[in-house]
Amino acid sequence: MHNPTTIFNDFRSAWSTTENLFSALKTEDSLLAAPEHGLRHPLAFYLGHVAVFYVNKLRAAGLIREGIHPLFEELFAIGVDEHSWDDMTKNSRSWPSLSAINDYREEVYALVSQAISRIEDAAFDDTNPEWAILMAIEHERIHIETTSVLMREIPLVNFRAPENFPTLHPSSKAAPSLHPKAGVDYPKPEWVAVSGGEVRLGKSRNCSSFGWDCEYGEAWRFAEPFEVSKYLVSNGEFYEFVSDGGYTDDSYWTDEGAAWRKFRNRNSPQFWVDGGRKLRTCFEEIPMPWSWPVIANFHEAKAFANWRTKNDSAPVRLMTESEHHRMRTVVGPRAVSTANFDLRFGSEAPVDRDTSLPICDVVGNVWQWCEDIFLPLTGFRPHSLYPDYSTPSFDGKHQLLLGGSFASTGDATGPWNRNNFRRHFYQHAGIRLVRKP
Ligand SMILES: [Fe+2]
Repeated sequence: MHNPTTIFNDFRSAWSTTENLFSALKTEDSLLAAPEHGLRHPLAFYLGHVAVFYVNKLRAAGLIREGIHPLFEELFAIGVDEHSWDDMTKNSRSWPSLSAINDYREEVYALVSQAISRIEDAAFDDTNPEWAILMAIEHERIHIETTSVLMREIPLVNFRAPENFPTLHPSSKAAPSLHPKAGVDYPKPEWVAVSGGEVRLGKSRNCSSFGWDCEYGEAWRFAEPFEVSKYLVSNGEFYEFVSDGGYTDDSYWTDEGAAWRKFRNRNSPQFWVDGGRKLRTCFEEIPMPWSWPVIANFHEAKAFANWRTKNDSAPVRLMTESEHHRMRTVVGPRAVSTANFDLRFGSEAPVDRDTSLPICDVVGNVWQWCEDIFLPLTGFRPHSLYPDYSTPSFDGKHQLLLGGSFASTGDATGPWNRNNFRRHFYQHAGIRLVRKP
């Protein structure tokens, strides 16, 4: 059952979170800042884009008759599919001023509020026009998270810590900056046995809550017994890999991963500053919290797992989708009740903050890269309002991520969410390891 009050509250919450996130910009010039890798638009695009998406989708669904600003609704719709991120021909465009974008956003807010007030208090599903509103809210939530990563990749000089955005986890205040090998403690890796069992992948179309196209369908799989790392891989644990020459030994890396590492000239993770002395959070640099989960891309995650194999009794790898779901079943609801997600904090948190759990951070804190390439489940069908949401990513170049991060809200914190990114992309994503018993 959906009702207009709940939907309006969700809309207002997502909208104000975007506003709070962008209040981090120090000057108007910061709106034109973009990451060094040049694979994403400047921030201005994303401030306009989430608003334009409401207008374009509500219009396509027939909930509103006309748009507000045809030029904006074309300019900020281009690249609307964030999976087309390597097509950056539009980066040569000039972008409207902050006040022009904000004026437009005010009009969109009023328009969407009116559309929500017309919703009847009744059940609807993905065949009803009202689904477009849920889709646009969830789309905004995705961009809140991905924009927070984008900001993390852009020089600090552009930002100030925003007043109304969640603060860093309190452990940031007590974070050590000394090197692990100089005696700073960090959670020692532990393996936890998980029994085998059948798992169901895929969300039923009978569920009334919003889901993206790739979440629906059905697949029954059997997960063989496995052992899983109790903790997400911490910065301290990852440092062992770095200091053991992990970034200079190609034998740990896939060919694609080694090529990426050399192209980007990397010798440590993206958000490590001064070789690991500090960590870049979204808006600050803090002394390195060695017990927080490392943030890595898929190539780094795989290289780390291969390095661990060298000193382990069995081959070590990342999780599969089936194993992730099996792990969730074994840990049960506590996995969710203690999770670091839903923007309770504006950062990662120690991987061992609740050692009473059999497995920590089953969900939340940082996304977990999976061994699986992103593929549809049986019964997949694209949604008519957003046919390009998943389909372009079923290309073998996108890797599955599960579990959500501290910045995930809404559907991304749910059990059916199936996220994907290219293997070289950074998100608030890290590493959980698996091996056969
Ligand atoms: Fe988008």
